[in-house]
Amino acid sequence: MAAGGKRLILVLALGLVLLQLWVNLGTSAQAARSSHPRLRLSHKELWDLNRTWVFHGPQGALDLHTMLLDEYQERLFIGARNALYSLSLERISIDHQEIRWPCTATQEDECLMKGREKSECANYIKVLHQYNRTHLLACGTGAFDPVCAFVRVGRWTEARLFNLEANHIEGGRGRCPFDHNSPCVSTFSRGELYIGLYTDYWENDAALCRLDNQSYTRTERDDRQQLNEPKFVGSVVIPDNDDQDDDKVYFFFTEKAVDMESGNNAVYTKVARVCANDLGGQRMLVNKWSSFIKTRLICSVSGPNGIDTHFDELEDVFVLRKKDEKNPEIFGLFSTTSNIFKGYAVCVYHMDHIRTAFNGPFAHKDHPEHHWTAFEGKVPFPRPGSCASQVNGGHYSSSKEYPDEVLRFARDHPIMFQPVHPLHRRPILLRADGERRLTQVAVDRVEAQDGHYDVLFIGTDNSVVLKVITIYNKETDTMEEVLLEELHVFKVPVPITEIIISAKRQQLYVGSEFGVAQVKAYHCDLYGSACADCCLARDPYCAWDGVTCSRYYPAGIHNKRRFRRQDVRHGNAAQQCNGLQMNGEQLQKVEEKSVYGVENNSTLLECSPRSPLAKVLWFLQRGSEKDEVRVGDRVVKTPHGLLFLRLRRADAGTYLCQSAEHGFVQEVAQITLEVLEEEHVEELFHRVEEVEEEGGGSQHKALPCPIPGLPQGSTSKLWYKEFLQLIGYNNFHKVEEYCERVWCSDRRRKKLKSLQPKWRFSHVQERRGRVRGDHHRMPRNALVT
Ligand SMILES: *[C@@H]1O[C@H](CO)[C@@H](O)[C@H](O)[C@H]1NC(C)=O
Ligand SMILES: *[C@@H]1O[C@H](CO)[C@@H](O)[C@H](O)[C@H]1NC(C)=O
Ligand SMILES: *[C@@H]1O[C@H](CO)[C@@H](O)[C@H](O)[C@H]1NC(C)=O
Ligand SMILES: *[C@@H]1O[C@H](CO)[C@@H](O)[C@H](O)[C@H]1NC(C)=O
Ligand SMILES: *[C@@H]1O[C@H](CO)[C@@H](O)[C@H](O)[C@H]1NC(C)=O
Repeated sequence: MAAGGKRLILVLALGLVLLQLWVNLGTSAQAARSSHPRLRLSHKELWDLNRTWVFHGPQGALDLHTMLLDEYQERLFIGARNALYSLSLERISIDHQEIRWPCTATQEDECLMKGREKSECANYIKVLHQYNRTHLLACGTGAFDPVCAFVRVGRWTEARLFNLEANHIEGGRGRCPFDHNSPCVSTFSRGELYIGLYTDYWENDAALCRLDNQSYTRTERDDRQQLNEPKFVGSVVIPDNDDQDDDKVYFFFTEKAVDMESGNNAVYTKVARVCANDLGGQRMLVNKWSSFIKTRLICSVSGPNGIDTHFDELEDVFVLRKKDEKNPEIFGLFSTTSNIFKGYAVCVYHMDHIRTAFNGPFAHKDHPEHHWTAFEGKVPFPRPGSCASQVNGGHYSSSKEYPDEVLRFARDHPIMFQPVHPLHRRPILLRADGERRLTQVAVDRVEAQDGHYDVLFIGTDNSVVLKVITIYNKETDTMEEVLLEELHVFKVPVPITEIIISAKRQQLYVGSEFGVAQVKAYHCDLYGSACADCCLARDPYCAWDGVTCSRYYPAGIHNKRRFRRQDVRHGNAAQQCNGLQMNGEQLQKVEEKSVYGVENNSTLLECSPRSPLAKVLWFLQRGSEKDEVRVGDRVVKTPHGLLFLRLRRADAGTYLCQSAEHGFVQEVAQITLEVLEEEHVEELFHRVEEVEEEGGGSQHKALPCPIPGLPQGSTSKLWYKEFLQLIGYNNFHKVEEYCERVWCSDRRRKKLKSLQPKWRFSHVQERRGRVRGDHHRMPRNALVT
């Protein structure tokens, strides 16, 4: 066979391998379809869009351990390794202030003498709170010798203050762990620090404590009923009613199961509660909580065979505050503890359910070997777990006045019998793709046209923030997850360790050891400027305003534009955008093109809609008939388009590629497929080779060469293009070279002229009167309701 023919075979064979790869990718993409976001933005894209800014710290590795948002001062305070930073909320990458706070030489020496690594012997700032109007309270590990100090912040005339009160550095034991990897959670409220931590060097003593300048109240030492090797995750102060004396402090943690509670190595997630004003007992429980109670937080899905999958390991907790301070919503991010299968779930808890469990029966055991039962005896008054306040008739001004009987009962019954079940008794979100670990969750409540939505921002171990909404369907009792965006906020893959939302600025501040990224919570116009694109995105932040997709504000706030189209719940673009499809400007343009394929060979009709969530439909247009393309062994749908593994003459025709998403159908591409007969292609090459052998001599550089003997109406340019499409644009240079060598001399041209055109199209389509190729025209949109 002639050299040109062989080259073509090679090119086509290679094409076939690549196409097979596409088929496989297509199959796997189908399986994981639900994990596709509507938008996926790389770090570079976020950067180019000015949607993100990153603060890396002066040394490039921040080793961030805590962040504190101060909306009033418009600063983000950061506790890192040997340093504190104050960053601008407006643009965190500029105008930062730094406080160097390393450990002392003595601290470092002693740390090294204990056999610790040099990297551990530093001052990791793990606790950072707004102490009062002028000062922050900061505590660090001080190279295994915890320290605390105040930091002066605020403004003094023109200057922004950010100074460590270096001459008042205090011991930080009980306020900061020794080891920077030790879990520690804290809350600051009314001058008091509530903290969950391991208080000692060897990490034997886990405690939930309160410290102020006069008292230190904590859990019992070595009481495994209260705490059993806990991993502290979160804490919050929540009022019960308008009486401050009834304020409760809640701690969220995972701990080992106690004895018979279940199998050997089981861990459970617990919520524990104490009264903020608890001072402990007078003779018993001195400086110990008299109001400590805890119960289990359940997050599970029921299986078809009645076996539930439990998500028992709490990874993060987010408290969504509302106008009603007494009833925030608690979002827990959980993982399975199984070694074989790593799954994640987000469960939501209402305060009603938590309070009901704490007001319910106490768990009781008559004998250590027995099972837990609900305590049915008489509970002493005031009921353990309630606070010294008006709810007890004002009989007790402090827990120190509680009768011994009450304290004894409290000490013996720290566990409640009823667990807390999540809202709808199921997770609002489930992930089990095994792709990445989920580490953080933060939630923004967003007002939309059809109600409010909780937008979840979920951090992963590979620098990604997932933006998700979940919609509960009451009729079917099912949960729908809508993955809106996948944002790669850092350049390198690092675990995300903090996410703070500024609802006021609609920015996220995302922390990792690598740095802090500031990311805007939405970027509406990226969904596309068409009404349909905007509606289908279902992003509660965004609505179509008559011109483009922009930030949605509920009526009354920014009411200048009344014309808003949004449907988060159903994404019903057909209904929302009906009547707007005639306005060609606002809709995606339909792509039109021609593709040439060789009979008995493979060909791909490319079409990939903008949204990865859209379903693609293919139709073959014949006259006025429009039939859906039957796919099977020979014709396959891939994410890149329709693949013919073995082309037949009868396949020639006009193909319409439509995308369907949420009942909204739009035409994306129109492709005319022409099928070349195999023998004629080969014949053509033979001819070309023959001409080449005869020739020799002078060469002509001008391209494209006019080729004689092509079908009527065709130009050399067309032939050239067809040829390129046939053997692939990747081989453009080869074709050019070849063409130049073979055809581009006057002598050859004359010879070619003498040859009869023996090849032809098996399907000659009418294309008179309009320019072929990738030109755009008014779109044709089908609205399906
Ligand atoms: C980003 O900001 C720079 C300057 O701050 C500006 O020149 C550029 O156009 C902006 N890019 C976008 C996409 O807005
Ligand atoms: C805040 O607390 C610090 C440290 O106790 C103290 O020096 C300062 O005076 C306090 N500021 C105000 C305004 O109370
Ligand atoms: C210590 O507590 C008392 C009363 O609770 C308060 O008046 C005083 O200002 C506090 N001292 C400091 C240094 O905060
Ligand atoms: C593709 O076409 C070449 C020649 O054009 C032919 O030799 C080859 O067998 C074809 N491949 C298939 C799979 O039909
Ligand atoms: C294409 O394949 C079919 C079935 O194998 C065969 O009958 C036909 O001759 C082939 N066409 C060409 C042009 O090779």
